[in-house]
Amino acid sequence: MAYETLTTRVEAGQVGVIALNRPKQLNALNDQLMDELGTALKAFDADDAIGCIVLTGSDKAFAAGADISVMVKYEFADVYKTEYISRNWETIRSIRKPVIGAVAGFALGGGCELAMMCDIVIAAENAKFGQPEIKIGIIPGAGGTQRLPRAVGKSKAMDMVLTARMMDAQEAERSGLVSRVVPVEKLMDEALATAITICGMPRLAAMAAKESVNRAFESPLSDGILFERRLFHALFSTRDQEEGMEAFLAKRPARFTNS
Ligand code: HXC
Repeated sequence: MAYETLTTRVEAGQVGVIALNRPKQLNALNDQLMDELGTALKAFDADDAIGCIVLTGSDKAFAAGADISVMVKYEFADVYKTEYISRNWETIRSIRKPVIGAVAGFALGGGCELAMMCDIVIAAENAKFGQPEIKIGIIPGAGGTQRLPRAVGKSKAMDMVLTARMMDAQEAERSGLVSRVVPVEKLMDEALATAITICGMPRLAAMAAKESVNRAFESPLSDGILFERRLFHALFSTRDQEEGMEAFLAKRPARFTNS
């Protein structure tokens, strides 16, 4: 499939890479980009050869937010009818394979929200995260006021949302917003190595792990624990559980079949 606002490729035969590509607008998110992103994510999610997805931007910008040149014309009725400024935010949430965000440069507004929807965020040293919507008379609209406090705590989230202050990569790592920080030139290598490690894990366990960790953000602890236990039990019906445990005891590498 040919895309205009992003590129896709497969690395190592098993990692689906999506690179946002509206360089002149610092990857600002418009409807076309969000539609193409939804399509590309769903295509990789449905492809049995793919075990993990990497979502990235350019060295200068992961994404500088929703496209302000489009939003400037909107009125309440326009955005209320379509629910979001742009579509497919729920599609991103519905992807079942692990998604790694490889973030360099600006991740602002919807760009920061997009990064926070990824399962793991790896940041380049030049990454800058922010929710500057208040400066243009709005607030975050794709989960920023909800996911940011869960990631970095209330005080830092309020600080960023109310003052529009950007957080650099080091602070983002200290605060738990990202899992690792690497030099810009190593960003894709690190993201791909992480993705390949995940691809080497039994697929059903990886999907269940993602589902269960995400449940931690959606439910009270007792429900989350129960959800985890049910998935944990279910994995004992997979061949890869048997193979993983037998291989460990036989001191040989496991041969997983993703079944
Ligand atoms: C449209 C954008 C844009 C955006 C940058 N550009 N961000 N266009 N929407 N969000 C465009 C600029 O207009 C400019 O176009 C070109 O990209 C380069 O940007 P500069 O500002 O010249 O670059 P720089 O000086 O390096 O500053 C980078 C920046 C700044 C700090 C990222 O561009 C900026 O503050 N952008 C807006 C960030 C923002 O407010 N994001 C939140 C949007 S609201 P020209 O044509 O002049 O070269 C949002 C709500 C989400 O995201 C809701 C989801 C439902």
